[in-house]
Amino acid sequence: MLELKNVGYCIDDKRVIDAISLSVARGEAIAVTGPSGSGKSTLLRMIGDLISPTEGEIYFKGKRYDAYKPEALRLQVSYLSQSIELFGETIADNLAFPSIVRKDTFNQEQAKTLMAKVGLHQYHLSDSIHRMSGGEKQRVTIARQLMYRPDVLLLDEATSALDDENSVRIEKIIFDIVKKGTAVLWITHNDAQSHRYFDRRIVIKNGRLVEECDKS
Ligand SMILES: Nc1ncnc2c1ncn2[C@@H]1O[C@H](COP(=O)(O)OP(=O)(O)OP(=O)(O)O)[C@@H](O)[C@H]1O
Ligand SMILES: [Mg+2]
Repeated sequence: MLELKNVGYCIDDKRVIDAISLSVARGEAIAVTGPSGSGKSTLLRMIGDLISPTEGEIYFKGKRYDAYKPEALRLQVSYLSQSIELFGETIADNLAFPSIVRKDTFNQEQAKTLMAKVGLHQYHLSDSIHRMSGGEKQRVTIARQLMYRPDVLLLDEATSALDDENSVRIEKIIFDIVKKGTAVLWITHNDAQSHRYFDRRIVIKNGRLVEECDKS
């Protein structure tokens, strides 16, 4: 599904990522861990095609990233940022966005189902996002990301603002789509989370992949 070959990233003479090679299979769930500032977000942002590696190559379904149109690639490889980014005024403005970029009709039923799944059933799609709490906003970003099932889902601390009950709720949703074939790379500082359901765990330190543990 995804293949990184000696991928590196340098900026302002600073080496952020150093020769990372990694293969990710369809439906594989990988926990990405490592200290703050080690390069985890940078790695996911390269895989999400938001920034380009300065060395090495990334392949998706056997083709190099630069053989794809960025818009087309981003529909299949989807990155959920560490910062909670909502736009517009209402929940619907956010959940309709994925259908707008795909020139598809907005599936309101799907949006309502997802809102219930992330534990926000009390909200209407027409409600304002401005009065929501941080954790509620984060759950809207997750629902938005799941309006369509990507082939690769990149989660950058997707449950950082959530309590345990809601984290577990989100994990369940994510691992349901993993069962349907989506590959997930999930940055987490939560050790319990990284051990719960993942197939593998990788550790990034100083921009290098230093440890890879298979789990069974
Ligand atoms: N565009 C940039 N310009 C300068 N430095 C950068 C840039 N992007 C990343 N870095 C640096 O690269 C290092 C790794 O950053 P990154 O955000 O990938 O870390 P991280 O592992 O995700 O950390 P955290 O766990 O705190 O989110 C940091 O020292 C950061 O300052
Ligand atoms: Mg980060």
